[in-house]
Amino acid sequence: MSEQSINLLLVEDDHQQRSLLKGILQGEGMRVEDVESCEDAILLLKKQHFDLVFSDWKLPQLSGLELLKYVKRNQPGLGFIMATAHGTIAHAVEAMNAGADDYLTKPFQRQEFLLCIEKVLKSTLLKRENIKLSEQLGKQQQLVEFVGTSAVMQSVHQRIARVASTDATILINGESGTGKELVARALHRLSDRNKQPFIAINCGAIPHDLAEAELFGAKKGAYTGAHQDKIGKFEAANHGTLFLDEIGELPLSLQAKLLRFLQEGTISALGDSTEKHIDVRVLTATHRDLPDMVKQGEFREDLFYRLNIVPITIPPLRERSEDILLLADFFLQHRAKLHGFDVPTLSTTTKVALQKYAWPGNVRELGNKMERFVLLGDEQELCDGLSQEYLNDTLEATAFSLPAEGLDWEVFEKQCLAQALERHAGNRTQAARFLGLSYKAFLYRLDKYALN
Ligand SMILES: Nc1ncnc2c1ncn2[C@@H]1O[C@H](COP(=O)(O)OP(=O)(O)OP(=O)(O)O)[C@@H](O)[C@H]1O
Ligand SMILES: [Mg+2]
Repeated sequence: MSEQSINLLLVEDDHQQRSLLKGILQGEGMRVEDVESCEDAILLLKKQHFDLVFSDWKLPQLSGLELLKYVKRNQPGLGFIMATAHGTIAHAVEAMNAGADDYLTKPFQRQEFLLCIEKVLKSTLLKRENIKLSEQLGKQQQLVEFVGTSAVMQSVHQRIARVASTDATILINGESGTGKELVARALHRLSDRNKQPFIAINCGAIPHDLAEAELFGAKKGAYTGAHQDKIGKFEAANHGTLFLDEIGELPLSLQAKLLRFLQEGTISALGDSTEKHIDVRVLTATHRDLPDMVKQGEFREDLFYRLNIVPITIPPLRERSEDILLLADFFLQHRAKLHGFDVPTLSTTTKVALQKYAWPGNVRELGNKMERFVLLGDEQELCDGLSQEYLNDTLEATAFSLPAEGLDWEVFEKQCLAQALERHAGNRTQAARFLGLSYKAFLYRLDKYALN
């Protein structure tokens, strides 16, 4: 063990003994403060950080036992060794019972003294490390399934932690596969409702004519086929959390009903005129541009403002590329364990390619690609799949939006080919790669537009 930065407090009233022990310890490279009484020791402990106290039992006024009790009460992580006089085994027992890490009976040899110090230091440092680790773990466990340390995701995590325990309605924005559902589940798990149901429903996946009954319930006979009362998702989630995924797909008529619930806390089932009070926290998510939908008249403005009280926006993976390798590693381990395979390693070239790739399907796509790699072990296939869509190219592609008046495809394609050639000084191989086309497909198109 390196004793470079070890701080030791030596408490001994015999001046000669004290300077002898101090000399031995300093000879081992430790930093030593020495005092002659329990009172002085306590004063120093309040001011300075120590790793270990070595104290004589017999001190002028208060005894070493009083010092030990003070230390255990106020600095339980501090190591403590008691020196006891020959023939006072009762003191040694008492010290150990009071929580001393070890004791040493006087007179002792240099070697014995150093061994005892070393042993206690080791266990003290270990104990301290364990405390630190379990504190860290406690914090991490709250968001344990979130992999990633990028600043943008840290602020998402902070926001989750801050609003999870409230009943605020949350709108989670993010491209497909960024982790919206993961966020919704974390919000539920970190809330007081976590023992109650979490019900997720994809508003885009229910046929419009069934959506009302599905969400709000229906009375028997309210529609053909309703042979008995139907419990809706709101009621099923009572006291818990309802996650309305793809909220942008909710039909306008139901948007009004949702708004009423958010304002009044009540719902009414299809075919039932009575209002029922329900205690549900609503979380919503969308990959669509709701403000734009509001402009187009496809989404109620009042509902949008009501939902958007606390927005959480999950950035696309390409905007947090520092998380890509962490996530890749996480998925490799996870999927390998799942399928009982060895965890494969990624070559440096592949790692670079993973970071350059644009990940249009975000974290989900990364998970799927890593799973395939675990199963097939084909790194070439993985790389081929990645080189198609490099970050810069895709960013340009996504920055492009179709003109409102439409376009002539052939003119457009011809211009793309010509510009790609121009940009690469007529180098066809490079121009083809730039457009994500095979060389053959590129030549075919050049021919078609007589660009040869
Ligand atoms: N930070 C992350 N750490 C670990 N796994 C993640 C992370 N983000 C997302 N995932 C995983 O990626 C997959 C996609 O996440 P999720 O289903 O939450 O995305 P989504 O935004 O709801 O996607 P969609 O819009 O397609 O519904 C899930 O398997 C999820 O567990
Ligand atoms: Mg989802």
